[in-house]
Amino acid sequence: MKVVLPGGTGQVGTILDRALTAAGHEVTVLTRHPERERQIGWDGVTLGPWARAIDGCDVVINLAGRSVSCRYTPENLRAMMDSRVDSARVVGEAIATAVRPPRVWLQMSTATIYAHRFDAANDEAAGVFGGTETGVPDHWRHSVEIARKWERAQREAPTPATRKVALRSAMVMSPDRGGVFDVLLGLARLGLGGPVAGGAQYVSWIHDEDFVRAVEFLIDRDDLDGPVNLAAPGPLPHRDFMRTLRAAWGVPFGLPATRWMAELGAFALRSDTELLLKSRRVTPGRLREAGFRFAYPTWEPAASDLVQRAPGRLRLPRPVPYRSGPR
Ligand SMILES: NC(=O)c1ccc[n+]([C@@H]2O[C@H](COP(=O)([O-])OP(=O)(O)OC[C@H]3O[C@@H](n4cnc5c(N)ncnc54)[C@H](OP(=O)(O)O)[C@@H]3O)[C@@H](O)[C@H]2O)c1
Repeated sequence: MKVVLPGGTGQVGTILDRALTAAGHEVTVLTRHPERERQIGWDGVTLGPWARAIDGCDVVINLAGRSVSCRYTPENLRAMMDSRVDSARVVGEAIATAVRPPRVWLQMSTATIYAHRFDAANDEAAGVFGGTETGVPDHWRHSVEIARKWERAQREAPTPATRKVALRSAMVMSPDRGGVFDVLLGLARLGLGGPVAGGAQYVSWIHDEDFVRAVEFLIDRDDLDGPVNLAAPGPLPHRDFMRTLRAAWGVPFGLPATRWMAELGAFALRSDTELLLKSRRVTPGRLREAGFRFAYPTWEPAASDLVQRAPGRLRLPRPVPYRSGPR
């Protein structure tokens, strides 16, 4: 297949590019800073010569968007919104004007669209959208609003010959440098991987291999369109998530952090505590109904696999259990 990845230079793009290229597909990346072969320049806002790559391709997977790991200042929130809505709109324009439009357009969205909740999981049918929760910082509703407008930009694009799927993805866990797993593992190794603010908030995640397999599944299944949750069936409270990660690496202890310590840490890292504190309890209702089988449905084997694949890391020796008598 010919696959076009707008915004394909980041963490998710790297995972997909690597896997789809290895599977024998022809992958082209749209980026604002083309540097390599198979990369084409675009601005994510206006139609241009880049649209020729979309005309005649089989699949478009749009990943473009300003990183959400930043302080939620008014300028950053505007850039987070505009980069997503504008890129989805212009990808829709390119598909709408193509002589040979792609068969399917997968548009990245996010599991953050759902409410901060602990009581039940959000699937696509019964899930509750966020934005009206009480007792959470006011600015959290911005992320939900961004996700909703992002999805709307795809939904409203007039592309009748192209099936559209919105990928409501949880955090994609891959061992690549700079990804979310790398950051969490780094904290765990420093002894800082304890529960944050009590750790009752749920973490939804998906192993990189399952993310790629789910994307391939959705490309193949002509009967599936609209929003689809990409999350392992086993979301778990943050404290258990981090305990399992520490065990996978062999770190016995993780310093707990209070909410204000998390605020301070996020400030130092120029990030926002929403990424740590929002309870994301999301399950893959539609994928499961459609018969998708996860290779890593639960966190323990997933964490263990990711730790084994973490590059260039000197593993700390596991403590040797004490045994009396001769060895
Ligand atoms: N990573 C996850 O676990 C996860 C989970 C759920 C949803 N998502 C969403 O999935 C998308 C891809 O995630 P990612 O982790 O790969 O993100 P990423 O590493 O930040 O990469 C996103 C890409 O978007 C492009 N971009 C950034 N600002 C842009 C702008 N103003 N206009 C046009 N393009 C822009 C960049 O490409 P160039 O600089 O090369 O143009 C960048 O490589 C993001 O929208 C993210 O919010 C990610």
